[in-house]
Amino acid sequence: MRRVVTTQQMKEADEYTIRKMGIPSLVLMERAALACVDVLKREFPLERVLVLCGTGNNGGDGIAIGRILHLAGYDVTICLTGNDAHRSEENKTQKEIAENYGTTFVNNPDPAEYTTIVDSVFGIGLSRELSSQYCELFQKVNSSRAKVLAVDIPSGIHGNTAEILGEAVRADVTVTFAFAKPGLLMYPGADFIGRLEVCDIGIYEADNVVCQPDIRQLDERERAWIKRRNPGGNKGTFGKILLIAGSVNMCGASYLSGMAGFLTGAGMVKIHTVRENRVILQQQFPEAMLSVYDDTDPNLSGLEEAIGWADVIGIGPGLGTSRTAEELLDRVLAVCQVPLVIDADGLNLLSRDTDRLRELKCPCIVTPHLGEMGRLTGMDVSSIQKDRLKTAAEFAGNYHVVCVQKDARTVIADPEGMIFINTTGNSGMATAGSGDVLTGVILGLLGTGMPAREAAALGVWLHGCAGDAAARKVGEASVMAGKLLEEIPGCIRNDSN
Ligand code: ACO
Repeated sequence: MRRVVTTQQMKEADEYTIRKMGIPSLVLMERAALACVDVLKREFPLERVLVLCGTGNNGGDGIAIGRILHLAGYDVTICLTGNDAHRSEENKTQKEIAENYGTTFVNNPDPAEYTTIVDSVFGIGLSRELSSQYCELFQKVNSSRAKVLAVDIPSGIHGNTAEILGEAVRADVTVTFAFAKPGLLMYPGADFIGRLEVCDIGIYEADNVVCQPDIRQLDERERAWIKRRNPGGNKGTFGKILLIAGSVNMCGASYLSGMAGFLTGAGMVKIHTVRENRVILQQQFPEAMLSVYDDTDPNLSGLEEAIGWADVIGIGPGLGTSRTAEELLDRVLAVCQVPLVIDADGLNLLSRDTDRLRELKCPCIVTPHLGEMGRLTGMDVSSIQKDRLKTAAEFAGNYHVVCVQKDARTVIADPEGMIFINTTGNSGMATAGSGDVLTGVILGLLGTGMPAREAAALGVWLHGCAGDAAARKVGEASVMAGKLLEEIPGCIRNDSN
């Protein structure tokens, strides 16, 4: 996994490198500029280059890029935006150096006249809505045919929340320094960054100065959490999953979760569901054991026996929100002592009194999409979207659970302040049953004895890989939950990524 830092953490790491370690800020700037120039020379049409620079140190990086390209003989023009009175010291120094070397400066350029535009108007220091003047400039950049390189982060995107503060530059490549920032990975910002390149400029200090939140981007290294299967094991040793799922007309959810659990490694799956689902599940899913109840009588005695049997429990997929379903959830919350995953209707029922989570005696993972997150927290979805990392982390901390906040970029937060951002997956996964499959994958991993935080994070990552593998075969528009199931084995075996 890769370290991701907030804007504040990045500033602290910069400061630490400069003040405590003694590397001058102009040296860091030169290295940042050289890293960008490398990418420009490698990938960009440099016939006519425009470098748009702001008043801060991101702008300083840009002026240095302009000067280096000028000295290398390229046709380059620098445009300084913003008020001269607000220029940072480094920005002023870079301006002087560029002037000393005779670099060309221009006011009010027409972006349409250039083949390449370097965007260094705002970096991670962007802190408020843009004025109309900046919005218009960025619109002109976006409607030009120039190829665009963004320095650190495309201007207009908030570095922590990924919000677009009025308008944002749409880049072909974004060169960021030392660490990725949440605004580059989360949507809507992620839609503007093009290809992301993280360049080393000599800032290594994140671990010395900043701890919380500890944000990581999941990648294939997380496969190392998967334990070697015990060759001497039996079906009872690879995880016994109890799924309390599926109401009348909703048995598919229990099938999808149960199958995903098996495909992720579970030895046994038992589904506690309404009697009406018995025949269809026995026909379609003979590998699963069943324990059934009448919707008028939740058969809590059968439930307790099943709970006693299980190594891990999942509740919610297709469960419905009837009185009976509520009684089942109440009972599970009261007695469960093994890892528990609450999903879908389980979350809708839980939201009637979220504080019940505080009474739990077991590790718990909740898997809300943004609508369910809204019901659990009482927040409206647009407020959650404004800072998804924060809402997930606060929920995990307040209720002492692992919170898997599902969306195009799923965020996984644990109670100790660790946050994972997942970047696998695609729009094809926004399809019915996709969440049920995720619940099953997480349960399957929990069943192998994987701790809740790792099972949640790796489950999300693998589920996204399955979505990507499915999209490669059928196209994003045609991905369905069943296709995700087909791709799970290859993703776990690592032959499809
Ligand atoms: N409209 C107009 N102006 C705005 C707006 C807005 N909506 N939002 C912010 N600004 C202005 C503010 O005046 C702000 O300056 P202030 O914070 O002093 O008030 C300025 O824009 C912020 O400009 P940025 O260039 O985005 O921020 P900063 O000067 O902090 O530089 C940095 C960002 C440090 C370059 C960052 O992108 C980074 O860490 N880069 C990687 C390392 C690097 O290149 N370091 C350079 C040398 S080391 C160093 O700078 C400490």
